[in-house]
Amino acid sequence: MQHKVLAGLDRKEAEVYRQLDPGRLPKHIAIIMDGNGRWAKRRHMPRVAGHRAGVAAVRSTVETAARIGIHAITLYAFSEENWKRPQSEIDFLMRLLSRYLKAEVPTLNKNNIRLEYIGRQHELPEDVQDRMEWARASTAHNTGTVLTLALNYSARSELVDAFRSMVNAASQNGGVEHLRIDEETVANHLYTRHLPDPDLVVRTSGEMRLSNFLLWQLAYAEIYVTSTLWPDFRGFHLLEAIAQYQKRERRYGGLNHGDAHAEPAKVLK
Ligand code: IPE
Ligand code: IPE
Ligand code: MG
Repeated sequence: MQHKVLAGLDRKEAEVYRQLDPGRLPKHIAIIMDGNGRWAKRRHMPRVAGHRAGVAAVRSTVETAARIGIHAITLYAFSEENWKRPQSEIDFLMRLLSRYLKAEVPTLNKNNIRLEYIGRQHELPEDVQDRMEWARASTAHNTGTVLTLALNYSARSELVDAFRSMVNAASQNGGVEHLRIDEETVANHLYTRHLPDPDLVVRTSGEMRLSNFLLWQLAYAEIYVTSTLWPDFRGFHLLEAIAQYQKRERRYGGLNHGDAHAEPAKVLK
């Protein structure tokens, strides 16, 4: 298995991959792809040139994730707040998405990647929705990495939609008095019900915020922020993020192994 994985990586990637513990890979990685505009500005190019260049980053990152056997990768591609941008930039992003989906399906199939979406899909332009549906159906049979694109996504809207859907389900199922409210029920009504919570969230371009991304699901994710701008990000950078992740100690509110033997009673005496 290791050998087969290494054969699919380039020299720089293989160097980082060798340092990883393949038994402790994050199951689900979420990425806030940020910095396209700044990438373009530095080159005295229009912002949209940064978005176009970001496609190569998506391709490389997704392919590497699939090669090393990551179960799920979720990319924040367009937020509900992004409608505030100039119409010309929004139109460009929608066209870019449509073109990406059309061009990418054969590669996704070759890499056994299944496409999913989260976000209020029905509010996107109809031709984009059609293309999305086509791409999803064309990859639905794949059994490898699940690639989820967050499009017209907002974590707060997702929670509102989840609560509405819980009430609807209960009223169709014996009445609202039967509404069960617990963490499991909420999680089962989120857009991400097909996924485990992300273990690792990556944000490019150095911003230290979540920008309304997966607020419920990231409760215990490790956060990795890199100054690399999204169009410069590659599979190699993803592997670096995973290497950092493996150095972290996840405690979930508990204690380290070694510290569990500390005896508070004696200290007090
Ligand atoms: C991220 O890059 C892409 C989207 C939000 C669609 P930005 O466009 O936010 O780039 P910056 O933050 O302006 O550099
Ligand atoms: C977050 O990036 C949304 C996506 C990556 C799609 P933004 O650039 O929109 O976030 P803010 O405005 O810096 O919070
Ligand atoms: Mg940004």
